[in-house]
Amino acid sequence: MSSEAKRIKVIASGDRTILPKGAKMIPVYIMGKKYMLPETLTVQKAIEYAGYQFIRACGCRGGICGACPTVWRVLGDYQLHFGLACQTVIEENMVLAQLPFFPANKAVYDIEELSGDGSVIAALYPEVMKCVGCNTCTRACPMEIDVMEYINAAMRGDVARAARVSFDCIQCGLCSARCPAQIAHYHVAQLCRRLYGKYGLRQAEHLARRVEQIQSGRYDQMMDEVAKLPEDELRKRYVAREPEPLDSKGWEPKDKTYL
Ligand code: SF4
Ligand code: SF4
Ligand code: FES
Repeated sequence: MSSEAKRIKVIASGDRTILPKGAKMIPVYIMGKKYMLPETLTVQKAIEYAGYQFIRACGCRGGICGACPTVWRVLGDYQLHFGLACQTVIEENMVLAQLPFFPANKAVYDIEELSGDGSVIAALYPEVMKCVGCNTCTRACPMEIDVMEYINAAMRGDVARAARVSFDCIQCGLCSARCPAQIAHYHVAQLCRRLYGKYGLRQAEHLARRVEQIQSGRYDQMMDEVAKLPEDELRKRYVAREPEPLDSKGWEPKDKTYL
């Protein structure tokens, strides 16, 4: 069985902190030191089980925030693997290293001063034009995003397509760790979503109205009052509030003071 197939099989075994009957302790190398760890743990939990405490490279623990990229090799194999520490289950003889962040090129810009034109992408991130179409970025993505497709859209200046295809990006940087063209995919994608949000989408009228109300000070007094409440009164009010129903179409609260 190839190392990749073994890895997928191990990932499919799930993450259980309480060892199921028959589960064993396996050797894993963290910061170059060997530990015997329960085989059902994720990389993140295994590192904590070994006694380390995360102060970086850990966030949601649920595969959503992108804070936990990890790199590993398995003893006897030359290949480097990349994945999210909170979503990858350890395997025997894994040699682990954590990335506190990925040091990719990040353009500085003021979105208010950019034109909505797609040529902005190549001006801020000229390296997108160096894509060689190898698709390594797509294969590296834990969110199964077609990364090469959104980079190709960015090359064409197609802001809307790049924004839509990259919508689920969690900014983990794993695609950039593999790219032979040194592209900072996730920063390019974020620029496209910002451009699309500002210049491509129709602005929501109700949102503009509400922002205006907030800026006019309509809620200031209410916010001041709430901020001064003791915790138990806040809890009481929270429990007593009129919750929005799941199907809220056409619903309005009984108290319309702040609508
Ligand atoms: S890894 Fe880099 S060069 Fe390869 S397809 Fe993705 S963006 Fe292009
Ligand atoms: S596109 Fe890149 S940064 Fe975004 S989730 Fe996929 S691998 Fe992570
Ligand atoms: S801790 Fe958030 S994605 Fe892993």
